[in-house]
Amino acid sequence: MVVAVPQDCADLCALREHMGDCHRCALAATRTRLVFGSGDPHARLMFVGEAPGKNEDLTGEPFVGAAGKLLDELLESIGLARAQVFIANMVKCRPPGNRDPEESEIDICSPFLARQIELVDPVVIATLGRFATHYVLHTTVPITALRGRLYRVGDRRVVPVFHPAAALYDQSKRGVLQDDFRRLRAVLDRADDGERAASDGPAQLVLFDGDPS
Ligand code: URA
Repeated sequence: MVVAVPQDCADLCALREHMGDCHRCALAATRTRLVFGSGDPHARLMFVGEAPGKNEDLTGEPFVGAAGKLLDELLESIGLARAQVFIANMVKCRPPGNRDPEESEIDICSPFLARQIELVDPVVIATLGRFATHYVLHTTVPITALRGRLYRVGDRRVVPVFHPAAALYDQSKRGVLQDDFRRLRAVLDRADDGERAASDGPAQLVLFDGDPS
């Protein structure tokens, strides 16, 4: 199924309204609430996660479980509050048992994410984990090889990081995530308001210059 998002969804509220009681894929049958995303509708930094989990499904808010708590801590460590960023997911409904989202579910749901990105119009996108990173960078390279670097897609900077949930189970990833958030802060600081990464076409790799700390 190809989902077309009408251009008259001129803001996030209109887009949410357009999604309605979405039944475009099978996840509708098992979800409690659709998790559209939340935060500053004009944030300079946007996070893209994978899919809602149990707590998100119950509350309708992204990243409110254990991974969300870690995300809040990481944000705080770089001087940001959740209200200053926008957080959305690849798919808006919880896959049963927290399984990985299927390709067909991503295909159906991703046009809504694409429109969210256009509407929020962030200067920097931080992709949380494999699914978001592969979608935003149009690649299938493993996240371990992609994180720690800065990319440009169109006029946006993209910073792939491990999914916070991965750091809950693997302590070694926590320090890596903290380093990557320091890099993210540096990228944000350098991307002054109005200044855009000048490039078109496929994702470009830009190595971080200097120490992230
Ligand atoms: N994991 C995600 O990727 N998204 C959420 O909203 C919660 C957990």
